[in-house]
Amino acid sequence: MRPNVNEVKNVAVIGAGVIGGGWVAHFLRQGMNVTVWDPDPEAESKLRERLETAVWPKLERLGLKEGASMDNLSFAPTLAEAVVNAEFIQENTPERLPIKIDTYKQIDAACPKDSIIASSTSGYLMTEMAVEVQHPERCVVAHPFNPPYLMPLVEVVAGKDTTDEAHDWAVDFYKSTGKQPLKLKKEVPGFVADRIMEAVWREILHMIDNDMASVYEIDAAVRYGPGIRWALMGPLTVLHLGGGEGGMAHLIHQFGPSLKAPWTFLEAPELTDELANKVIDGCDEVTDGRSIRDLEEERDDLLIRMIEMLDNSELWHVGNK
Ligand SMILES: NC(=O)c1ccc[n+]([C@@H]2O[C@H](COP(=O)([O-])OP(=O)(O)OC[C@H]3O[C@@H](n4cnc5c(N)ncnc54)[C@H](O)[C@@H]3O)[C@@H](O)[C@H]2O)c1
Repeated sequence: MRPNVNEVKNVAVIGAGVIGGGWVAHFLRQGMNVTVWDPDPEAESKLRERLETAVWPKLERLGLKEGASMDNLSFAPTLAEAVVNAEFIQENTPERLPIKIDTYKQIDAACPKDSIIASSTSGYLMTEMAVEVQHPERCVVAHPFNPPYLMPLVEVVAGKDTTDEAHDWAVDFYKSTGKQPLKLKKEVPGFVADRIMEAVWREILHMIDNDMASVYEIDAAVRYGPGIRWALMGPLTVLHLGGGEGGMAHLIHQFGPSLKAPWTFLEAPELTDELANKVIDGCDEVTDGRSIRDLEEERDDLLIRMIEMLDNSELWHVGNK
């Protein structure tokens, strides 16, 4: 029997890098016991240091659920021991299909047969990953955004053998932890958000490759322009307002013909060393020598303030089911 989503107490996190570590923080904040498996012998010390110095103070600022403590974190010596009593498992291994398939097989064999197994994969389908498991009906993709302890969205996608009940349970579970889960009915590679981001990423690479814009210009164009509005309403509602009194109907007729203009390159450019270096050097330049840790601090501070501000606005919740 699956527990009530509000009663989940024991969670396992497999892979404790950028994303797994972020999930650990999120589940600890909910007052859950979190057991981790990661083959890197330094994973535990690295994660504990990151939690203590960088992440926990932010979670305290946001508010901890009753019983939440870093003392509820433990590392298991094997994957099987990490998941054996887990009511919910979040998998965060490297984005390589053979690793995902093997990890799923191991988790499925060792955890209680009703426990939901969720993958943070950025693009693989559950139907591709759950090919060697005995109980694919409880496997879902649950794609988070970095950092998972702050970003609300989780895209929850079923595989071909996932039951509706398991899919719904996973959505309700994330909701109960304060997330904004999006239940996606179609199993599409890249899901929704990454497909949108990939399209933007392709255009960015073309512009850099063709010296049409610098890293600074591209970042500034989004930060001071559409980025702010997208955060408030999403790209389509923003365009709906762009149509004036006539809304989207007017906009689509007015700008429809320009969709055929050769603005976009559509195909991804060849990722040559030269192009990669231009992007990498440009990022170093615009971040002005600041460390990733310093940038993460600034990002998290702004994210918390922005999410708190947006959360108080009725507009931000319009359409939320
Ligand atoms: N980084 C992002 O922005 C982001 C966002 C959303 C989703 N994701 C997805 O999250 C997953 C993890 O990505 P990441 O960025 O945290 O990677 P990462 O490299 O930071 O972490 C991967 C961790 O997995 C561990 N690991 C390696 N092999 C393992 C195994 N067989 N079993 C268990 N652990 C193993 C590594 O030691 C490492 O700690 C990927 O599927 C990725 O697509 C990443």
